Amino acid sequence: MALAAAMIAVASLVLFSVMSCSCHAVGGGGGGRLPPTLTRQYYEAGGQKISGAGGVPAKVQYETRYFTQRLDHFNAAPASYGTFQQRYLVNATFWGGKAAPVFVYAGNEGDVELFTNNTGFMWDVAPRFRAMLVFIEHRYYGQSMPFGGSKEAAYSNASATGYLTSTQAIADFAELILSLKANLTAPAAPVVVFGGSYGGMLAAWMRMKYPHIVMGAVASSAPILGFYGLSDPYSFYNVVSNDFKNESEHCYDVLRSSWKELDEALATDQGRARLNHTFNMCKGNVDAIPNLLENALVYVAMTDYPTPSSFLTSLPAYPVREICRAIDHPSSGKDTLSLVKDVMTIYYNNTGELACFGGGGDEDPYGMFAGWNWQACTEMILTMSYGVSNSSIFPPDPFNFTDILAGCRDYTGLPPRPYWIEAHFGGFDIGNVLKRSASNIIFFNGLRDPWSSGGVLKSISESIIALVEPQGAHHVDLRFSSKEDPDWLVQVRRKEMRIIARWLRQYYSDEAISS
Ligand SMILES: *[C@@H]1O[C@H](CO)[C@@H](O)[C@H](O)[C@H]1NC(C)=O
Ligand SMILES: *[C@@H]1O[C@H](CO)[C@@H](O)[C@H](O)[C@H]1NC(C)=O
Ligand SMILES: *[C@@H]1O[C@H](CO)[C@@H](O)[C@H](O)[C@H]1NC(C)=O
Ligand SMILES: *[C@@H]1O[C@H](CO)[C@@H](O)[C@H](O)[C@H]1NC(C)=O
Ligand SMILES: *[C@@H]1O[C@H](CO)[C@@H](O)[C@H](O)[C@H]1NC(C)=O
Ligand SMILES: *[C@@H]1O[C@H](CO)[C@@H](O)[C@H](O)[C@H]1NC(C)=O
Ligand SMILES: *[C@@H]1O[C@H](CO)[C@@H](O)[C@H](O)[C@H]1NC(C)=O
Ligand SMILES: *[C@@H]1O[C@H](CO)[C@@H](O)[C@H](O)[C@H]1NC(C)=O
Ligand SMILES: *[C@@H]1O[C@H](CO)[C@@H](O)[C@H](O)[C@H]1NC(C)=O
Repeated sequence: MALAAAMIAVASLVLFSVMSCSCHAVGGGGGGRLPPTLTRQYYEAGGQKISGAGGVPAKVQYETRYFTQRLDHFNAAPASYGTFQQRYLVNATFWGGKAAPVFVYAGNEGDVELFTNNTGFMWDVAPRFRAMLVFIEHRYYGQSMPFGGSKEAAYSNASATGYLTSTQAIADFAELILSLKANLTAPAAPVVVFGGSYGGMLAAWMRMKYPHIVMGAVASSAPILGFYGLSDPYSFYNVVSNDFKNESEHCYDVLRSSWKELDEALATDQGRARLNHTFNMCKGNVDAIPNLLENALVYVAMTDYPTPSSFLTSLPAYPVREICRAIDHPSSGKDTLSLVKDVMTIYYNNTGELACFGGGGDEDPYGMFAGWNWQACTEMILTMSYGVSNSSIFPPDPFNFTDILAGCRDYTGLPPRPYWIEAHFGGFDIGNVLKRSASNIIFFNGLRDPWSSGGVLKSISESIIALVEPQGAHHVDLRFSSKEDPDWLVQVRRKEMRIIARWLRQYYSDEAISS
């Protein structure tokens, strides 16, 4: 029991951060769990490089630009006047001129190209809206590093990293958009902001805080209610478990029992030899198996897309179903360890090109972990993704807020601010609050996505609309359309287009612009 609990603490850490923090595993006496990144995680499983650009359609072409951004928007202390180069990507080919819309992507926790390449919806709809596309990189990620452009300097101490906050990030977006519109002499061009995951949270918050700069927001899979007191701290892992349970009870039972069997095997020389034989582990690294398994199950639930995907790692359509199929109809052995191997094969070796599991290598090619670990321990404390209930497919891990905060304090050396997001952006009684104070937001959520349990799942007003799709996964609506898309997905995207078109008509009418 204790062993299992310790193991999952380590497992989630690896999930979250291979690079920066083995310190968490022991921090706070077994506490210090960190949540998965919101974006699909890259995990190089076999010492060979998986192509990140795989499957990017040829129409993704853009110009790269840089904007001199202010370090700190919120005070006049001399250090605030520091600047950095913020990267943004532009495609103005479809733009219909000065009154035509500008579609801005609110960059999230990684290299902005990753999101540009995978937010197909914007590319698909730009021509019909005659929209300019702008993808803005989030500060402290990709190339947009303060302190001279070097990641080492930006992350070298808390005084340098302290400017990495969501409020600074959306203020950056606001300043950049204003400057861009000024340079285009297009003050009246309506701006719609899009985002998925953490980027979706930023998009929604931007519409709430900067309604004079963005006239609408498409917030896809944005867990703005994932914070303490706003959602069930067990909900993330409960959704993951239910995804598998819903496929088959047997699949759920096998996965649930696998940890104990792995633990037992890892505890003896004989067992370790057997694992080494069953799993083709790189360098006989059998201790990595539980982490790899947990990683696979969490990310497969997030990306349970209806069509094959080949981003970061190659996956078949509905990978959760594929995993349960492999468990329910085994090809090799029927024993649990052979079944676990089959599960790992689906996630890590869909291409059939993997030489061995758990090879290490560059685990963070899109530069997510240093920044996200920091954010997740200072203000973005998404409590929804920490507790693991007794009925989970993962080993239980009771939610303990004190432990989480202690782990974060150890990690950053600073007191975490778990209530700041709620103070600044709100969340309690969100329906009544936003009904009176906001407008023009789409909240899309797919219920197979574990992050959906922190999302806005009920429409709030005529223009704050929740689109909820039982079969959907993490920001599936923003992906490129494909001929194999199921009807519900085609319909979701049509609805989004109709809603955006309605916002724009209203805007032109309010502004008396004939368009
Ligand atoms: C914008 O994208 C279109 C197609 O997606 C492409 O034809 C065009 O060359 C791109 N423009 C720039 C400036 O990259
Ligand atoms: C994005 O796509 C472009 C063009 O296909 C490619 O050159 C680039 O490497 C991709 N970047 C990422 C981070 O996937
Ligand atoms: C923190 O790092 C920055 C950037 O490297 C450096 O300029 C600054 O002097 C450092 N501050 C402290 C307190 O170490
Ligand atoms: C607008 O033009 C100014 C002056 O050339 C430039 O410094 C600034 O970076 C431009 N803004 C953007 C968003 O590119
Ligand atoms: C559960 O599985 C059934 C059959 O596979 C499917 O029809 C149903 O939509 C699923 N429910 C959810 C919430 O995924
Ligand atoms: C694991 O198996 C490989 C060959 O399959 C062998 O070379 C290696 O020594 C084994 N490692 C351990 C720790 O047993
Ligand atoms: C990956 O799949 C290929 C093709 O089926 C197989 O030859 C290889 O052994 C697999 N790799 C691992 C680590 O199991
Ligand atoms: C899980 O089970 C343990 C022991 O059986 C019990 O003490 C605990 O309250 C349960 N946790 C939850 C969240 O139900
Ligand atoms: C949380 O963990 C701390 C120590 O790590 C312990 O003292 C405390 O009792 C725990 N709280 C709950 C509610 O279990």
